[in-house]
Amino acid sequence: MLFDPEPKRKKRDFYNREVELRELLDSIEKEKFVVIQGIRRLGKSSLLNVALAESKRPSVKLDLREIYFTHGSVSKFYLYHALSRELSKLSKTYRLTSWLKKVRGVKISGFEIQLDWREKGAALTDVFRVLDEWASAHKERAIIAIDEAQYLRLAGRTRYDGLLAWAIDSLDNLVFILTGSQVGVLQDFLGMEDPRSPLYGRYVKIIKLGRFSREQAIDFLRNGFKEAKVKQPNLEEVVDVLDGLIGWLTLYGHTYVSEGKAELGQFLNTAAKLAAEESKKILRWSDRYHAVLRAIASGALRWSEIYERASVKLGPISKSDLTYLLDNLVRYGYLERLEDGSFVIPDPVVKYMVTKF
Ligand SMILES: Nc1ncnc2c1ncn2[C@@H]1O[C@H](COP(=O)(O)OP(=O)(O)OP(=O)(O)O)[C@@H](O)[C@H]1O
Ligand SMILES: [Mg+2]
Repeated sequence: MLFDPEPKRKKRDFYNREVELRELLDSIEKEKFVVIQGIRRLGKSSLLNVALAESKRPSVKLDLREIYFTHGSVSKFYLYHALSRELSKLSKTYRLTSWLKKVRGVKISGFEIQLDWREKGAALTDVFRVLDEWASAHKERAIIAIDEAQYLRLAGRTRYDGLLAWAIDSLDNLVFILTGSQVGVLQDFLGMEDPRSPLYGRYVKIIKLGRFSREQAIDFLRNGFKEAKVKQPNLEEVVDVLDGLIGWLTLYGHTYVSEGKAELGQFLNTAAKLAAEESKKILRWSDRYHAVLRAIASGALRWSEIYERASVKLGPISKSDLTYLLDNLVRYGYLERLEDGSFVIPDPVVKYMVTKF
């Protein structure tokens, strides 16, 4: 169903995005390192899921946002646990166990694979190397997908950027696909442009997801209502409010279909509450971020105008403080810096949230 609010898994539920899907499928065959970028709710996880299904290649997928919000950290223990589960799933289709049993710290019983996370346990370098050997022997390419990879920076002492760099350099039959909604945070973590970073200078194929055009957004809604056999409301109005953000359009469609109606104002309010909850968890949200966003909510603004408006609200604020706040909002995807140097809030729901709450 097009209006299913979960990330899509099947191509037939995945509207449009033909170009990005083709690009990702091609990359799976010929690249080693791919990053899918885009602010929240543009369909990164859906694109990843659909590509994994369509590629027919063996894959493991770790959802780091889920790990982080379930356990409050991305410790080695939870990562190993998640990877063990994924490898176990994979071993039901592919005979991996006879290969992995050679690796120190890997316990096998039936199809179950368990990686020992302790100091002297399994080393990911060994696990990946054996996966690579297995893939090579079977003329396969194995995919390691990491959804919301920026959370790896919270993984404690382990340097996953170093591990990635090593794997990309040494293992030809693995492809790593990372996604990130906090685009700047992920870039900083990967440090591809930082000569001190292990990943510096590696080639990365970047797939950027953008919003849908007005016509596409309306067409998506029209198809969704048709599929649900529900008479469509005024779609122009919906897109006026929610723009081409596929995640909000999907949630709106889902709400409308399940409840038989959805008043736009009310929907916006509920969506904004959800966005507010999320923002509190993500940025250590403060009145200062709020005031800066609020100053910008009235339109695309330049630095000096924001400074003026934000100072009214916040009192004296230093120039470097404002720059810090703006940079962070951009890094986390709450703001976009346009080419002319002005700033806009890309998500209409976030814009509403900062003006109303
Ligand atoms: N091309 C698409 N066709 C139909 N529905 C889509 C499409 N892309 C995304 N969706 C829907 O939009 C919502 C957000 O999608 P998804 O979770 O894949 O995005 P995301 O970019 O990973 O978001 P987040 O940053 O929150 O993780 C989901 O309800 C999903 O079903
Ligand atoms: Mg996602």
